[in-house]
Amino acid sequence: MPISSAFTDQVIWITGASSGIGAALARALAAAGAQLVLSARREPELQALAATVPGGPERHLVLPLDLTATGTFPAAVETVLARFGHLDRLINNGGLGQRGDAADTPLEVDRRIMEVNYFGQVGLTKAVLPHLTTRGAGHIVVVSSVVGYVATPHRSAYAASKHALHGFYNALRAELHPTGVRVSIVCPGYVRTEISLHALDSSGGRHARMDKNQARAMSADTFAARLLPQLAAHKEEILIGGREIYAVYLQRFLPRLVSRVLRRSPKR
Ligand SMILES: NC(=O)c1ccc[n+]([C@@H]2O[C@H](COP(=O)([O-])OP(=O)(O)OC[C@H]3O[C@@H](n4cnc5c(N)ncnc54)[C@H](OP(=O)(O)O)[C@@H]3O)[C@@H](O)[C@H]2O)c1
Repeated sequence: MPISSAFTDQVIWITGASSGIGAALARALAAAGAQLVLSARREPELQALAATVPGGPERHLVLPLDLTATGTFPAAVETVLARFGHLDRLINNGGLGQRGDAADTPLEVDRRIMEVNYFGQVGLTKAVLPHLTTRGAGHIVVVSSVVGYVATPHRSAYAASKHALHGFYNALRAELHPTGVRVSIVCPGYVRTEISLHALDSSGGRHARMDKNQARAMSADTFAARLLPQLAAHKEEILIGGREIYAVYLQRFLPRLVSRVLRRSPKR
Protein backbone atom coordinates (compact mmCIF):
# COMPACT_ATOMS: atom_id res chain seq x y z
CA MET A 1 0.00 0.00 0.00
CA PRO A 2 1.47 3.45 -0.83
CA ILE A 3 2.29 5.45 2.30
CA SER A 4 -0.14 8.22 1.43
CA SER A 5 -3.16 5.89 1.36
CA ALA A 6 -2.04 4.06 4.53
CA PHE A 7 -2.67 7.20 6.60
CA THR A 8 -5.40 9.01 4.63
CA ASP A 9 -8.11 10.26 7.03
CA GLN A 10 -6.72 8.12 9.84
CA VAL A 11 -7.04 9.59 13.34
CA ILE A 12 -3.55 9.55 14.86
CA TRP A 13 -2.72 10.75 18.37
CA ILE A 14 0.90 11.89 18.87
CA THR A 15 2.32 12.65 22.32
CA GLY A 16 5.40 14.84 22.64
CA ALA A 17 4.20 16.74 19.57
CA SER A 18 5.45 20.15 20.73
CA SER A 19 9.02 19.59 19.46
CA GLY A 20 11.53 17.27 17.83
CA ILE A 21 10.44 13.87 16.56
CA GLY A 22 6.77 14.34 17.56
CA ALA A 23 6.44 17.63 15.66
CA ALA A 24 8.20 16.14 12.62
CA LEU A 25 5.87 13.12 12.68
CA ALA A 26 2.92 15.51 12.83
CA ARG A 27 4.16 17.35 9.71
CA ALA A 28 4.75 14.10 7.81
CA LEU A 29 1.47 12.43 8.84
CA ALA A 30 -0.61 15.55 8.15
CA ALA A 31 1.00 15.69 4.69
CA ALA A 32 0.01 12.02 4.24
CA GLY A 33 -3.65 12.92 4.93
CA ALA A 34 -4.03 12.02 8.62
CA GLN A 35 -6.19 13.85 11.15
CA LEU A 36 -4.07 14.48 14.22
CA VAL A 37 -4.44 14.79 17.94
CA LEU A 38 -1.46 16.81 19.13
CA SER A 39 -0.45 16.42 22.77
CA ALA A 40 2.31 17.72 25.05
CA ARG A 41 2.38 20.28 27.87
CA ARG A 42 3.35 23.37 25.81
CA GLU A 43 0.07 24.43 24.23
CA PRO A 44 1.39 27.47 22.26
CA GLU A 45 3.86 25.19 20.38
CA LEU A 46 1.05 22.72 19.63
CA GLN A 47 -1.25 25.52 18.37
CA ALA A 48 1.54 26.88 16.15
CA LEU A 49 2.12 23.38 14.74
CA ALA A 50 -1.60 22.80 14.09
CA ALA A 51 -1.76 26.13 12.26
CA THR A 52 1.08 25.25 9.89
CA VAL A 53 0.61 21.55 9.03
CA PRO A 54 -1.51 20.56 6.00
CA GLY A 55 -5.22 20.71 6.91
CA GLY A 56 -4.69 23.49 9.45
CA PRO A 57 -6.26 24.01 12.88
CA GLU A 58 -9.81 23.01 11.81
CA ARG A 59 -8.71 19.49 10.86
CA HIS A 60 -6.47 18.69 13.85
CA LEU A 61 -7.13 18.67 17.59
CA VAL A 62 -4.74 20.30 20.04
CA LEU A 63 -5.06 18.42 23.33
CA PRO A 64 -2.59 19.56 26.02
CA LEU A 65 -1.55 16.65 28.21
CA ASP A 66 0.99 16.10 30.97
CA LEU A 67 2.20 12.50 30.81
CA THR A 68 2.67 12.46 34.59
CA ALA A 69 -1.02 13.33 35.16
CA THR A 70 -2.34 9.82 34.49
CA GLY A 71 -5.67 10.66 36.18
CA THR A 72 -6.49 12.99 33.27
CA PHE A 73 -6.10 10.29 30.59
CA PRO A 74 -9.67 8.88 30.57
CA ALA A 75 -11.12 12.37 29.98
CA ALA A 76 -8.55 13.00 27.24
CA VAL A 77 -9.60 9.79 25.47
CA GLU A 78 -13.26 10.88 25.74
CA THR A 79 -12.36 14.22 24.15
CA VAL A 80 -10.66 12.47 21.21
CA LEU A 81 -13.55 10.06 20.66
CA ALA A 82 -16.15 12.85 20.98
CA ARG A 83 -14.33 14.81 18.27
CA PHE A 84 -13.41 12.05 15.79
CA GLY A 85 -15.58 9.05 16.76
CA HIS A 86 -12.61 6.68 16.73
CA LEU A 87 -8.82 6.42 16.99
CA ASP A 88 -6.62 4.54 14.49
CA ARG A 89 -3.13 4.96 15.97
CA LEU A 90 -1.57 6.17 19.21
CA ILE A 91 2.07 7.24 18.94
CA ASN A 92 3.55 7.32 22.46
CA ASN A 93 6.49 9.57 21.72
CA GLY A 94 6.77 12.09 24.63
CA GLY A 95 9.91 11.56 26.65
CA LEU A 96 12.57 13.04 28.87
CA GLY A 97 16.34 12.55 28.54
CA GLN A 98 18.94 12.29 31.29
CA ARG A 99 22.56 13.31 31.82
CA GLY A 100 24.07 12.38 35.17
CA ASP A 101 25.78 9.54 37.03
CA ALA A 102 23.57 7.17 39.02
CA ALA A 103 25.58 7.72 42.21
CA ASP A 104 24.89 11.49 42.12
CA THR A 105 21.22 11.23 41.13
CA PRO A 106 18.59 11.13 43.88
CA LEU A 107 15.87 8.52 43.50
CA GLU A 108 13.31 11.30 43.02
CA VAL A 109 14.92 12.14 39.64
CA ASP A 110 14.83 8.47 38.59
CA ARG A 111 11.12 8.45 39.48
CA ARG A 112 10.41 11.60 37.43
CA ILE A 113 12.00 10.00 34.38
CA MET A 114 10.08 6.74 34.88
CA GLU A 115 6.82 8.68 35.33
CA VAL A 116 7.16 10.38 31.94
CA ASN A 117 8.96 7.75 29.86
CA TYR A 118 7.30 4.60 31.22
CA PHE A 119 4.13 5.19 33.27
CA GLY A 120 2.96 8.02 31.00
CA GLN A 121 3.15 5.82 27.89
CA VAL A 122 1.70 2.76 29.59
CA GLY A 123 -1.09 4.78 31.24
CA LEU A 124 -2.22 6.39 28.00
CA THR A 125 -2.02 3.04 26.20
CA LYS A 126 -4.26 1.44 28.85
CA ALA A 127 -6.70 4.35 28.53
CA VAL A 128 -7.16 3.82 24.74
CA LEU A 129 -7.10 0.00 24.81
CA PRO A 130 -10.82 -0.60 25.52
CA HIS A 131 -11.73 1.47 22.44
CA LEU A 132 -9.18 -0.25 20.17
CA THR A 133 -9.97 -3.80 21.28
CA THR A 134 -13.74 -3.23 20.98
CA ARG A 135 -13.15 -1.92 17.48
CA GLY A 136 -10.86 -4.84 16.67
CA ALA A 137 -8.32 -2.61 14.95
CA GLY A 138 -5.67 -0.06 15.73
CA HIS A 139 -1.97 0.51 16.09
CA ILE A 140 -0.08 1.35 19.28
CA VAL A 141 3.38 2.76 18.68
CA VAL A 142 5.93 3.47 21.39
CA VAL A 143 9.13 5.43 20.90
CA SER A 144 11.96 3.75 22.80
CA SER A 145 15.62 4.23 21.82
CA VAL A 146 18.79 2.35 20.93
CA VAL A 147 19.34 2.91 24.67
CA GLY A 148 16.35 0.56 25.15
CA TYR A 149 18.84 -2.17 24.15
CA VAL A 150 22.24 -0.73 25.04
CA ALA A 151 22.39 1.04 28.41
CA THR A 152 24.93 3.84 28.04
CA PRO A 153 26.53 5.56 31.04
CA HIS A 154 25.13 8.81 32.52
CA ARG A 155 21.64 7.75 31.47
CA SER A 156 20.81 4.98 33.96
CA ALA A 157 17.18 6.00 34.64
CA TYR A 158 16.57 6.83 30.97
CA ALA A 159 17.98 3.44 29.93
CA ALA A 160 15.88 1.69 32.58
CA SER A 161 12.71 3.46 31.41
CA LYS A 162 13.35 2.51 27.76
CA HIS A 163 14.25 -1.12 28.62
CA ALA A 164 11.02 -1.32 30.64
CA LEU A 165 9.00 -0.22 27.59
CA HIS A 166 10.29 -3.25 25.66
CA GLY A 167 9.10 -5.61 28.40
CA PHE A 168 5.65 -4.07 28.57
CA TYR A 169 5.00 -3.60 24.84
CA ASN A 170 6.41 -7.01 23.79
CA ALA A 171 4.00 -8.69 26.24
CA LEU A 172 1.16 -6.42 25.13
CA ARG A 173 1.80 -7.23 21.44
CA ALA A 174 1.34 -10.94 22.09
CA GLU A 175 -1.80 -10.35 24.20
CA LEU A 176 -3.39 -8.10 21.58
CA HIS A 177 -2.61 -10.20 18.53
CA PRO A 178 -5.99 -12.00 18.49
CA THR A 179 -7.81 -8.64 18.72
CA GLY A 180 -6.30 -7.19 15.54
CA VAL A 181 -4.56 -4.35 17.42
CA ARG A 182 -0.88 -4.07 16.43
CA VAL A 183 2.10 -2.85 18.48
CA SER A 184 5.34 -1.29 17.16
CA ILE A 185 8.44 -0.33 19.14
CA VAL A 186 10.52 2.40 17.49
CA CYS A 187 14.20 2.70 18.46
CA PRO A 188 15.84 5.89 17.19
CA GLY A 189 19.58 6.34 17.24
CA TYR A 190 20.72 9.96 17.38
CA VAL A 191 18.23 12.48 15.98
CA ARG A 192 18.80 16.27 15.94
CA THR A 193 16.19 17.50 18.46
CA GLU A 194 16.09 19.41 21.73
CA ILE A 195 16.27 16.23 23.84
CA SER A 196 19.64 17.04 25.43
CA LEU A 197 18.48 20.60 26.20
CA HIS A 198 15.39 19.26 28.01
CA ALA A 199 17.23 16.31 29.68
CA LEU A 200 17.33 16.20 33.48
CA ASP A 201 20.72 16.47 35.19
CA SER A 202 21.48 14.84 38.54
CA SER A 203 19.98 17.77 40.46
CA GLY A 204 16.70 17.41 38.53
CA GLY A 205 17.39 20.65 36.60
CA ARG A 206 17.79 20.97 32.84
CA HIS A 207 21.02 19.78 31.18
CA ALA A 208 20.42 22.71 28.78
CA ARG A 209 23.25 21.85 26.37
CA MET A 210 23.10 20.54 22.81
CA ASP A 211 25.14 17.32 22.73
CA LYS A 212 27.58 16.81 19.85
CA ASN A 213 25.97 13.52 18.85
CA GLN A 214 22.56 15.18 18.57
CA ALA A 215 23.92 18.25 16.78
CA ARG A 216 25.45 16.21 13.95
CA ALA A 217 22.64 13.62 13.66
CA MET A 218 19.88 13.34 11.05
CA SER A 219 17.06 15.89 11.25
CA ALA A 220 13.76 14.94 12.85
CA ASP A 221 12.03 15.41 9.46
CA THR A 222 14.42 12.87 7.84
CA PHE A 223 13.73 10.51 10.72
CA ALA A 224 9.96 10.89 10.26
CA ALA A 225 10.24 10.29 6.50
CA ARG A 226 12.11 7.04 7.18
CA LEU A 227 9.66 5.96 9.87
CA LEU A 228 6.37 6.41 7.98
CA PRO A 229 6.69 3.44 5.57
CA GLN A 230 7.59 1.18 8.50
CA LEU A 231 4.56 2.37 10.49
CA ALA A 232 2.38 1.84 7.43
CA ALA A 233 3.62 -1.77 7.40
CA HIS A 234 2.99 -2.16 11.18
CA LYS A 235 6.59 -3.36 11.63
CA GLU A 236 7.05 -4.74 15.14
CA GLU A 237 10.53 -3.30 15.81
CA ILE A 238 11.97 -0.34 13.98
CA LEU A 239 15.58 0.84 14.26
CA ILE A 240 16.47 4.14 12.58
CA GLY A 241 19.70 6.05 13.02
CA GLY A 242 23.32 6.25 11.97
CA ARG A 243 26.10 3.79 12.75
CA GLU A 244 25.08 3.74 16.43
CA ILE A 245 22.22 1.35 15.62
CA TYR A 246 24.80 -1.43 15.06
CA ALA A 247 25.35 -1.31 18.82
CA VAL A 248 22.05 -3.21 19.17
CA TYR A 249 23.50 -6.18 17.24
CA LEU A 250 26.89 -5.91 18.97
CA GLN A 251 25.13 -5.98 22.35
CA ARG A 252 23.30 -9.15 21.31
CA PHE A 253 26.28 -11.04 19.87
CA LEU A 254 29.37 -9.46 21.51
CA PRO A 255 28.18 -8.14 24.89
CA ARG A 256 31.64 -8.16 26.52
CA LEU A 257 33.05 -5.99 23.76
CA VAL A 258 30.21 -3.50 24.23
CA SER A 259 30.81 -3.51 27.98
CA ARG A 260 34.51 -2.64 27.47
CA VAL A 261 33.70 0.14 24.99
CA LEU A 262 31.04 1.66 27.27
CA ARG A 263 33.50 1.91 30.18
CA ARG A 264 35.43 4.42 28.11
CA SER A 265 32.40 6.56 27.15
CA PRO A 266 33.11 10.22 27.75
CA LYS A 267 30.82 12.15 30.09
CA ARG A 268 28.32 14.25 28.13
N1 LIG B 1 16.53 12.75 19.74
C1 LIG B 1 17.13 11.59 19.91
O1 LIG B 1 18.34 11.44 19.60
C2 LIG B 1 16.36 10.42 20.45
C3 LIG B 1 16.99 9.16 20.43
C4 LIG B 1 16.31 8.06 20.92
C5 LIG B 1 15.01 8.20 21.41
N2 LIG B 1 14.43 9.44 21.43
C6 LIG B 1 13.06 9.51 21.96
O2 LIG B 1 12.24 10.26 21.07
C7 LIG B 1 11.15 10.82 21.81
C8 LIG B 1 10.99 12.29 21.41
O3 LIG B 1 12.14 13.01 21.86
P1 LIG B 1 12.80 14.20 21.01
O4 LIG B 1 14.16 13.78 20.63
O5 LIG B 1 11.87 14.69 19.97
O6 LIG B 1 13.01 15.30 22.18
P2 LIG B 1 12.27 16.69 22.50
O7 LIG B 1 12.38 17.61 21.35
O8 LIG B 1 12.80 17.10 23.82
O9 LIG B 1 10.74 16.26 22.63
C9 LIG B 1 10.25 15.65 23.78
C10 LIG B 1 8.74 15.80 23.79
O10 LIG B 1 8.23 15.15 24.97
C11 LIG B 1 7.32 16.02 25.61
N3 LIG B 1 7.29 15.82 27.05
C12 LIG B 1 8.32 15.85 27.93
N4 LIG B 1 7.86 15.73 29.19
C13 LIG B 1 6.50 15.62 29.10
C14 LIG B 1 5.45 15.49 30.04
N5 LIG B 1 5.67 15.44 31.37
N6 LIG B 1 4.18 15.41 29.58
C15 LIG B 1 3.92 15.47 28.26
N7 LIG B 1 4.86 15.59 27.32
C16 LIG B 1 6.13 15.67 27.74
C17 LIG B 1 7.81 17.42 25.27
O11 LIG B 1 6.72 18.33 25.31
P3 LIG B 1 6.43 19.41 26.45
O12 LIG B 1 7.73 19.84 27.04
O13 LIG B 1 5.69 20.48 25.70
O14 LIG B 1 5.53 18.70 27.42
C18 LIG B 1 8.30 17.25 23.84
O15 LIG B 1 7.23 17.43 22.94
C19 LIG B 1 11.48 10.60 23.28
O16 LIG B 1 10.73 9.51 23.78
C20 LIG B 1 12.95 10.26 23.28
O17 LIG B 1 13.33 9.46 24.39
C21 LIG B 1 15.06 10.54 20.96
